[in-house]
Amino acid sequence: MNGELYGQILRRRSFHYFKDVGDESLTAAELSDIEKAWQGFEPLYPEIKTEIRIVRESETNCRLGAEYCVLIYSEAKDGCLPNVGYLGEQLDLWLVSKGVGTLWCGIGKPKAAAPEGFEYVIMIAVRKVDDPAKFRGGAADFRRKAADEIWEGEQLAGVTDLVRFAPSACNSQPWLVKNDGGISVFRRGKTGLGGIVSAFGMLRFNRIDMGIFLCFLEVCLEREGFAFERSLCADVGGDSERTLNAVYKIK
Ligand SMILES: Cc1cc2nc3c(=O)[nH]c(=O)nc-3n(C[C@H](O)[C@H](O)[C@H](O)COP(=O)(O)O)c2cc1C
Repeated sequence: MNGELYGQILRRRSFHYFKDVGDESLTAAELSDIEKAWQGFEPLYPEIKTEIRIVRESETNCRLGAEYCVLIYSEAKDGCLPNVGYLGEQLDLWLVSKGVGTLWCGIGKPKAAAPEGFEYVIMIAVRKVDDPAKFRGGAADFRRKAADEIWEGEQLAGVTDLVRFAPSACNSQPWLVKNDGGISVFRRGKTGLGGIVSAFGMLRFNRIDMGIFLCFLEVCLEREGFAFERSLCADVGGDSERTLNAVYKIK
């Protein structure tokens, strides 16, 4: 996975409202670069087809001050939600490296129907940001669970301390890692968060969150020089305490 994504982990943040970020537009060439970048990202499940469409924010129900929304569509197959999270997080970090602010927008809905054979999954709202200082300055700017709340067993320097910063719906951080030689990644049920989001909606978002987390985990493992073999597990669990999503054998 692309090493330049690693450098954005401590910089990225959600622009819940794109206020005071300037009014520079994304050019046609930059929009086309986003499409090309999407084609180059690695999926978790290569057999599940995905597509993006980049539309003006006015073509959605969002009113965030974004310029465009990147609509993410997928074939409706088992694993499509973590797959979209994994791909979308690569896009999120890549956009930050280009000076574009982002927001994963779970409550967003596009006006247009999905392309034939695809379902709409989620969108990432985007707008250029006029000053690099408007991204995060470092670890102190995050509100997250402590490392020992999300990681059981031996911690890996440069990995455990960074994967904590992965974004998640309502900041629910539904992940738990168990390191007992191999690294098992679980989705936690009953995060008790969501507010206006239904339990069903939250389960859907949390499955996307898990893909986001696996993206962070792999970017950090690769950066720290850990070679690994990943096995994915179908997440058929509901709100049970722990549902295994993936196991990494460190080689
Ligand atoms: C799958 C997903 C859906 C999200 N949906 C929304 C949303 O609808 N509205 C919103 O303001 N933020 C949304 N967020 C942003 C989260 O609230 C945010 O990532 C989390 O609070 C952590 O903050 P940070 O991204 O600034 O680090 C979503 C994030 C994820 C990962």
